Amino acid sequence: MADVNLLTPGRIDGFDTKNRMMMAPMTRSRALAKGVPSELAIEYYAQRASAGLIITEGIAPCAVGLGYARTPAIENAEQVAAWKKITDAVHAKGGRIFAQFMHVGRIAHPANRYTTEPPISPSAVKAAGQMWTDTLQMQDMPAPRALDIKEIPGVIEDYAKATKNAIAAGFDGVELHSASGYLPMQFLSSNTNLRSDAYGGSAANRIRFVVEALDAMGKAAGSPSKVGIKISPAMPFNDIQDANPVETYTTLVKAIGNMGLAYLHVLQSAPEPSYFAMLRPLFKGPFAAGGGFTKDSGNAMLASGGADFIVYGKLFTSNPDLPVRFEKSAELVAFDANTFYTPGAEGYTTFKSL
Ligand SMILES: Cc1cc2nc3c(=O)[nH]c(=O)nc-3n(C[C@H](O)[C@H](O)[C@H](O)COP(=O)(O)O)c2cc1C
Repeated sequence: MADVNLLTPGRIDGFDTKNRMMMAPMTRSRALAKGVPSELAIEYYAQRASAGLIITEGIAPCAVGLGYARTPAIENAEQVAAWKKITDAVHAKGGRIFAQFMHVGRIAHPANRYTTEPPISPSAVKAAGQMWTDTLQMQDMPAPRALDIKEIPGVIEDYAKATKNAIAAGFDGVELHSASGYLPMQFLSSNTNLRSDAYGGSAANRIRFVVEALDAMGKAAGSPSKVGIKISPAMPFNDIQDANPVETYTTLVKAIGNMGLAYLHVLQSAPEPSYFAMLRPLFKGPFAAGGGFTKDSGNAMLASGGADFIVYGKLFTSNPDLPVRFEKSAELVAFDANTFYTPGAEGYTTFKSL
């Protein structure tokens, strides 16, 4: 595979990608009230259409799944119509775009939500740490309500409905956010999943929610090849911890490895052990590696056959035409963490292409 590099065309779900670079899902907190993406997002995503595949910011599949200030959802007609303008703009520039479904579970504050329903999780375990709200500034997150087993099919159904909405909004596919301590990872991880029913205990039980969600999303999309998944094994973000991540994630990837999914997206957050090396052989399909890649380390990873795609996050915030810059060996613009989550155009659509 020595001839494969970041600028080699790739393939996902039967379509060719311009290159092997994915834009990572990134929450940017510019949405309007009630989970509607803003007009600014049209330009923001269109500016980044040179990515082989754009993965959107985390989008709540349902109101209960929304936890952060100024974040979007995709459960009603107004939200779908706003997303349609975004996918149209990306497609007009020859880009491809998947919607990332981020159900936050317990990582939520009521002041950020347009529903009065309390946050849900596999178990009633409060997350340590605080969250930003526009009205009350930093706040503790309340303890979530534990889901009754009879309610779980309804949560899975929310992902299926959101998938249908995403396809109606023109997305090329959807990604299940099963990383970063949100609801699916709350099911996977032993410190947040204290259940003793079919969804808790053994690794085979803790992966059940994720497998069922992927299955439902594949059926709703018309094919599992329109559904990707992101995982971040052993990443402690959002007070999440698993007693045996190697067992959990090898069990999960073995279970989903032959489903015919669009891709497996792995965020590696610590040097050892390499979840890329561990999980790639277990997954029959495109493998996307992310977490701190540069041009050189991305090319080396592809050349070694360690991944099919490289996912770039922060670099895409300040270099909207990142693939073009790599091609031309152009200078990269440093990202600005101060404007990652601030409202308005500054730091969002103000970084220009070459
Ligand atoms: C501003 C910002 C927002 C992010 N929001 C999300 C998100 O909504 N969903 C997600 O899966 N990851 C999110 N991430 C993580 C990125 O997708 C990516 O995994 C991470 O930044 C590592 O890649 P990088 O080193 O190339 O930036 C976010 C990262 C940043 C910097």
